[in-house]
Amino acid sequence: MQFPPHIARRALLVGGLLLPTGSCTNDIPGTTPALREGPFYPRSIPGDADADLLHVAGADRPAQGEPLLLTGVVRRQDGTPLPGVALEIWQADANGINMHPHDPNLGRRDLGFQGYGRATTDGAGRYAFRTLRPGLYAGRTRHIHLRAYPLGRGRPLTTEIFFPDEAANEEDRLWLALSPAERAMLTVRLGTDAQGQRAEFDIVLG
Ligand SMILES: [Fe+2]
Repeated sequence: MQFPPHIARRALLVGGLLLPTGSCTNDIPGTTPALREGPFYPRSIPGDADADLLHVAGADRPAQGEPLLLTGVVRRQDGTPLPGVALEIWQADANGINMHPHDPNLGRRDLGFQGYGRATTDGAGRYAFRTLRPGLYAGRTRHIHLRAYPLGRGRPLTTEIFFPDEAANEEDRLWLALSPAERAMLTVRLGTDAQGQRAEFDIVLG
């Protein structure tokens, strides 16, 4: 997998002081809206950082919670699929606990859940993560953080993925600040198949 070296470098930075803001990188109409990184981007990237967040190498049990297959296509604005785009996601476990020292409940985190993963789009621009339905934590609705690294010199897109029909959306400051069009672009399409729950989330890069 070809992953930009700056992703690996980020793991060495402390306290977020040197991190890029990640905001306002995709403010062109019709592209996936950008949101801030938030407080829980991992301090250090876990040794197991693949696209299967339900299995942690060396852990003695699988992740707890409701499995969710998160898939989608990354495209340019003109609809062209983008192969080779590196993606990261990070999210709370089923109990709403994040893999970060600032999470007040870190001691109760599910060690069978990876909390962070990486994938790269295939030749058709498609990606897939095996993860779980994130739990709720204080002050936020259900969400998954995502970052996409465009090829070439484009700045990464940092954003969040929301869920439809969540009561907590209506009390979430970030959700309430989005326009209807932005909400539509940042909300997964949920479905179910023989493997379980599926979430489709397409990304349009500017
Ligand atoms: Fe978060």
